[in-house]
Amino acid sequence: MSKAMWGGRFTKSTDEMINEFQASIGFDKRMYHEDIAGSIAHATMLAKCGIISEADKDKIVKGLKDILQEIEEGEFDFSVDLEDIHMNIEKRLTEAIGEAGGRLHTARSRNDQVALDTHLYVRREVVEVQKEILNLQHALVEAAERYSDVIMPGYTHLQRAQPILFGHHLLAYFSMLSRDFARFEGVYQRADIMPLGAGALAGTTFPIDRQFVQQQLHFESIYGNSLDAVSDRDYILEFLSAASILMVHLSRLSEETILWCTREFSFVELDDAHCTGSSMMPQKKNPDVSELVRGKTGRVIGHLMAMLTTVKGLPLAYNKDLQEDKEGIFDAIDTVKFSLAVYAQIIRGMKVHEDVMKRAVTEDFSNATDLADYLVKKGMPFREAHAVSGQAVHDCIEKGIYLEDMSLEDFQKLSPLFEADVKEAIAPETCVKNRNSFGGTSYQQVGLQLKAAKELLATEQQIHDAAADKQVHVD
Ligand code: ARG
Repeated sequence: MSKAMWGGRFTKSTDEMINEFQASIGFDKRMYHEDIAGSIAHATMLAKCGIISEADKDKIVKGLKDILQEIEEGEFDFSVDLEDIHMNIEKRLTEAIGEAGGRLHTARSRNDQVALDTHLYVRREVVEVQKEILNLQHALVEAAERYSDVIMPGYTHLQRAQPILFGHHLLAYFSMLSRDFARFEGVYQRADIMPLGAGALAGTTFPIDRQFVQQQLHFESIYGNSLDAVSDRDYILEFLSAASILMVHLSRLSEETILWCTREFSFVELDDAHCTGSSMMPQKKNPDVSELVRGKTGRVIGHLMAMLTTVKGLPLAYNKDLQEDKEGIFDAIDTVKFSLAVYAQIIRGMKVHEDVMKRAVTEDFSNATDLADYLVKKGMPFREAHAVSGQAVHDCIEKGIYLEDMSLEDFQKLSPLFEADVKEAIAPETCVKNRNSFGGTSYQQVGLQLKAAKELLATEQQIHDAAADKQVHVD
């Protein structure tokens, strides 16, 4: 077994099982690009401040770029003995360029190095998540537009409540996703702080220039307290929390999708390409994607709980417990991006059964509020009107008919205020059209919501593009 990079004060090498237990290379290797970009910025700063020579800096930068290429071409040999991505790269660098490689870690600790890498990584992935949020939002807007005059029952308690536009329902999810987008914007801001230069915990005795590194890596600001810089994992907690809320939204949408494509509802049909069959029951067409998104929500919430629990009892500053921050957030990043991407496909491929949705409105009593509102507009107090409409529903149920089937005489037996225009007043289209209060389900209001959604999409796109431009690329 090779001697560890920190082996100076040790007389024995690390036990093999312990080595494996404490290694993070298996998962933190995905931050290789960030590690190399961070090291290039650090070495450039060391040379600029006269801490290492220009010649050494040049060797280091070239060596790191070669390593980047080796990794990207799949030729890099990751070693568990070298614990993590930071030491794997540093060891390879020293092998390749000799003594200069040993100067790279001057004025730096793995504690501020890993914090830097993770900040860069999360900052980059937030932008990727936002891209996928935008894609799903586009899919929802397209569907809301395509089905702009489709009427369905809106529900409370999963009981038919009032007629609404299908587009209105879809745009509710658009709104949730725009809050998700904004939450990730907040995560971005908290990841956009530069920790390097904190050293192990207390700063460094070398005359470093943190602002220079900040500028090279395009960070908005710098941690003002070195202890905080190496022990802060708020941005990871915030990512996991924004990711959990987002997944909860997708899970609710999934639950509705699953219900809607049951034979009982039959409101929508999913594309064959987005479903699977049963190995035994030939008739089955299962909405697996929606079920999986609903299922994966639990995993992402689990990562949030795990990280909160990990951090809650930690003394300052760095503790190895913090290495546990990575697997959860990496998995959450993959899960959220994948779930958003597949859901955009599901929405785009979804066929809507307008006739079934409409029937669910007409062959039911979701216009009972409108019947009461009709009487109120003719002067009756709402409480009284509520009772009359309730009586009408009761009578209809007894007779096995619906409100629209009642004759004018039947209505007038319940109240003399009813006139011939009652039929028109309780037609589903009228129920929808009349809910014209701001944010309501009327054709006009949903049209305004669509317009606002498109404007918001344009703003979000600009935010996304500006953040994407700020990412660091080693060329
Ligand atoms: N692999 C470690 C992590 O992910 C890097 C920091 C290690 N620092 C230390 N003092 N052991 O947290």
